[in-house]
Amino acid sequence: MTSLLHVDSSATDAGDSISRQLTAGFAQVWRKLHGADGYRYRDLAADPVSLVSPAFVSLGLRVERQGAVPLAKVAGMTETAAEEREWALTLPLIEEMLAADTVLLGVPMYNFSVPASLKAWIDRITFPGAFLASGTGERLLRRTRVVVVTARGGCYAPGTPREGFDFQTPYLRAYFTDLGVSEENLHFVHAEMTRAGDVPQLARFKPLAADSLTAAWTAVTELAARPVGGRAAARSR
Ligand SMILES: Cc1cc2nc3c(=O)[nH]c(=O)nc-3n(C[C@H](O)[C@H](O)[C@H](O)COP(=O)(O)O)c2cc1C
Repeated sequence: MTSLLHVDSSATDAGDSISRQLTAGFAQVWRKLHGADGYRYRDLAADPVSLVSPAFVSLGLRVERQGAVPLAKVAGMTETAAEEREWALTLPLIEEMLAADTVLLGVPMYNFSVPASLKAWIDRITFPGAFLASGTGERLLRRTRVVVVTARGGCYAPGTPREGFDFQTPYLRAYFTDLGVSEENLHFVHAEMTRAGDVPQLARFKPLAADSLTAAWTAVTELAARPVGGRAAARSR
């Protein structure tokens, strides 16, 4: 069974959030093709993941010092109630990620980067060794497809004056490829200039915003319908 993990992080209500609308469109096409059984949804704005704590770090350091530790053995390495709590918060998020063939992220640009709610999720799932097979060191996400749908009030496309202000795309590209996702399985869809309809100084960019949104809808619809290639191997650790 193929599976989709859909994660939204916009603090804006679904009716007004461009990233939420686009990821919902992707999910709708995907469910039509694959059914609802493999679909998981996480709303990081409505149900935030807590920031990592000293107990998360101390447990992570202990695991790191051991080298490759299977996820199933981490609970046995906790030394305090706080570490147990941290692991209980962390493990389900890692398992959700490992179980997904496709990870779909809705990412508004906040202050040139990603929302803090998404960063909190990233910090928590990135537990030492979580995405490496403990026996072989194999990268468990190498066949996972990641689709990042961004929405930005301004425009950061190549060749625009604010291209260099985009710390969303390079950050997420570095993060996911370092985690083991292959370049060919990592997709970015951008809706640019989303505030052109609200901010008077941006009104002249309304056509650019409309074109960008149309292109984003085409891209998410096409990506949702595209089969995820080569994900046959079991993910045993
Ligand atoms: C807290 C906050 C920070 C923002 N920072 C930026 C920014 O740095 N650059 C930008 O172009 N737009 C910025 N915006 C505008 C959002 O990127 C834009 O409204 C986008 O459509 C949000 O995604 P959403 O529609 O899915 O909520 C910001 C909006 C908020 C609420």
